[in-house]
Amino acid sequence: MNTTPTETGALDIVIFGGAGDLSFRKLLPALYMAHLHSRLSPETRIVAVGRQNWSREEYLEFIDKNSPQFIEKNAFTADDWKRFMDRLVYVSLDVTAASDYAKLKAVCDAPMVRVFYLATAPSLFTQICANLSSAGLVDAQSRVVLEKPLGTDLASARAINTDVARYFDEQQIYRIDHYLGKETVQNLMVLRFGNAIFEPLWRAPYIKSVQITVAESVGVGSRAGFYDGAGAMRDMVQNHLLQLLCIVAMEPPISLGADDVRDEKLKVLRSLRKMDLADIKRDTVRGQYTAGASEGAAVKGYLEEDNVPAGSRTETFVALRAQINNARWANVPFFLRTGKRMQKRQSEIIIEFADQPFSIFGTTAHHEPNRLIISLQPEESIQLEMMVKEPGTGMSLHPVKLGLDLQQSSDKRRAEAYERLLMDVIKGRLTHFMRRDELEAAWMWVEPILDGWQALDDKPRNYSAGSWGPAASSALMAREDLSWFEEV
Ligand code: BG6
Repeated sequence: MNTTPTETGALDIVIFGGAGDLSFRKLLPALYMAHLHSRLSPETRIVAVGRQNWSREEYLEFIDKNSPQFIEKNAFTADDWKRFMDRLVYVSLDVTAASDYAKLKAVCDAPMVRVFYLATAPSLFTQICANLSSAGLVDAQSRVVLEKPLGTDLASARAINTDVARYFDEQQIYRIDHYLGKETVQNLMVLRFGNAIFEPLWRAPYIKSVQITVAESVGVGSRAGFYDGAGAMRDMVQNHLLQLLCIVAMEPPISLGADDVRDEKLKVLRSLRKMDLADIKRDTVRGQYTAGASEGAAVKGYLEEDNVPAGSRTETFVALRAQINNARWANVPFFLRTGKRMQKRQSEIIIEFADQPFSIFGTTAHHEPNRLIISLQPEESIQLEMMVKEPGTGMSLHPVKLGLDLQQSSDKRRAEAYERLLMDVIKGRLTHFMRRDELEAAWMWVEPILDGWQALDDKPRNYSAGSWGPAASSALMAREDLSWFEEV
């Protein structure tokens, strides 16, 4: 165990949905890691709020049974876990009953920084904030963390934002997108703005295309109840993929200050060219997985998964071509792609540089464009594809990769996204959270596409589980003489 001094003063982290999936899979393991590495002050408490009528002992029993399996094996010790559990307090309350909040007030009476983490359905956010406020639990030191999905369209996102703003100032609101907490995603900013060599080339006409892929090998699992009403566009593109696109495309912010970074991301979102029906037909592909194989095992199709309504047209895959209307990116296509039950779990960003304007090696020589391959997960690496001379007496060319394995580049511990973001909330750092206008700008671009699919009565194309998505996704790129990276 690390013995650096703690990084925070006393505070309470109040988790609504304290017995929910997110809590025991992500939040408590992340807080355990922060505890283990002495990043929480000894007085910091975790107040779990749940509707189950449990005693503290019953809650601890539940957490003890369900949470440790989500903690890195070599970081778990029974002693540390026990000391961590000493921080936990349980308050059983019905979040919709204002009178119940007196129970929370009784536990949280001393004035101090309080973080309210709303890990519940967004439909409860307004009520929780209102009830917290009328119970006198919200003051200038309070912070509220809102989990995604924040709304299902622009109107519902606006409604949530407007309601929450009645009780919390924008500076107190942390809209989480856990992709912004990933080490490699944060590293993208350093790659772009901490190295002089890329910035001059990071624009049209030196970049020919950008690909952003977030592929998952898992299926919908037990989440069909939520997922079928959302689909890949709302679940992944509206937030994670657009955030990645923002970091790739934004202008250098004037500082790492939250609003400086978020102002630049907002400009990117506002520069995304709106799609009309013809664009949607041409530049987007929806898919839905059918039975196939995933990592060697036979798996069901989406329609056969538990709780998926018969005949559902929900997309489990999206590929699209986006265009950013500004001077830096004019005419550079951005291809975004995400899907469940794809061949493997792989998130990557490929920057494909423009072709050599003229080759002294002749038109028959093997030429590949230079590509910067930024792998976000599971590998964390940066590779630059370059042409070199093939050994021998001739002057043949062949591509090689100049590679940097980020995991090997430092022996410092790499914190998980939730730990990093929770520490940001605790320290009051908003840079890696979405501001209201950013979230709404993302919806403004996504919503017409969702509406367009409806208007076109667009049925998702089938793809076999374990593939890279429908053939139309390859065709989307082939049209411009480009290919997804795994097809190169
Ligand atoms: C979540 C989505 O936001 O991100 C899930 O709701 C998805 O459907 C998950 O599986 C992917 O996150 P990660 O960190 O595993 O890439």
